[in-house]
Amino acid sequence: MATGSAAGKAILLGEHAVVYGRPAIAVPLSDLRATAEVCAAAGGDGVCIRALDLGKEYDLAERYADPAAEALQATVRNALAYLGVDATAGGLAITVRSRIPVARGLGSGTAVATAVVRALAQHHGRQLPAPVVSDLVFRTEVILHGAPSGVDNTVVAYERPVWFRRGRAPELLALDGDALVLAIADTGVPANTREAVAAVGARHAADPEGIEARFDAIGALAEAGRAALRGGDMARLGDLMTQNHEHLRALGVSTPALDGIVGAALAAGALGAKLSGGGRGGCAIALTTTTTRDAVAAAMGAAGAVQVHVTEVHTGGARCGVPPPTARIGAPC
Ligand code: MEV
Repeated sequence: MATGSAAGKAILLGEHAVVYGRPAIAVPLSDLRATAEVCAAAGGDGVCIRALDLGKEYDLAERYADPAAEALQATVRNALAYLGVDATAGGLAITVRSRIPVARGLGSGTAVATAVVRALAQHHGRQLPAPVVSDLVFRTEVILHGAPSGVDNTVVAYERPVWFRRGRAPELLALDGDALVLAIADTGVPANTREAVAAVGARHAADPEGIEARFDAIGALAEAGRAALRGGDMARLGDLMTQNHEHLRALGVSTPALDGIVGAALAAGALGAKLSGGGRGGCAIALTTTTTRDAVAAAMGAAGAVQVHVTEVHTGGARCGVPPPTARIGAPC
């Protein structure tokens, strides 16, 4: 049996502005993973895809009125085409599992697609380099999100903290200092990235100058964040994240629930906090320290988060097989 695995992600700085060409910083969440298994199906033809967490099973040759099915089918077709394999020859059974909450801005669809690509490559005796995996998964992102920047497929495929700018090669960031300690709080409200990007697009269309200026300001925060990471200045990074949240609020993608959780995290001693991803639901993240993380996570829970997951992001990002230390309140986010 061939297997593939991929991490979730969080955006530290720059979401939405990154769609319009500004830089963003994203990190992998290596202890929240999706996995895919590929087996030759005994005596069968065609490809069967089982999404265990969704309780769904799809045939590659069928049509479904379900975006998740469409995304999975396209991922498999694109990967097989890249590998030069006829999708109709022989039988394949693909099983997908994920610990990443769906529709919370944590890259669950991206990670599932990445795991599927990796498992299919391994099944055919190949190991694909990160840029190839990223490009293949970008095509799935287009189906899932409409007009993605490419930051999600990039950080998930490289599984390293990345400095990302649309249309340019990503810069892999070496975190010069301690690990980043993040508390990730789930509002329990599904976040639809496509709709959030469209809502920001509508504001941009109504006030191009004002929104471009805001995107510039967010891009400047990402620039400053790269310098802070290089210098290991976590206090500065946290402050930049909090400033970024204010811009996201002004763009209309925060919610009272996200604002309440961010405020509670800051009051409990977080270095910084913001919504992460498309917003209008989903998760807020707080940058904490090993000393404050439990208090911050508890405060985020008390402010209404349905789950809080505490994780560490290390320089290398990926620690496959060696999950980073975690402390949890309730179930993982
Ligand atoms: C989604 O994780 C981040 C957004 O900036 C969309 C994108 O970059 O494609 C909201």
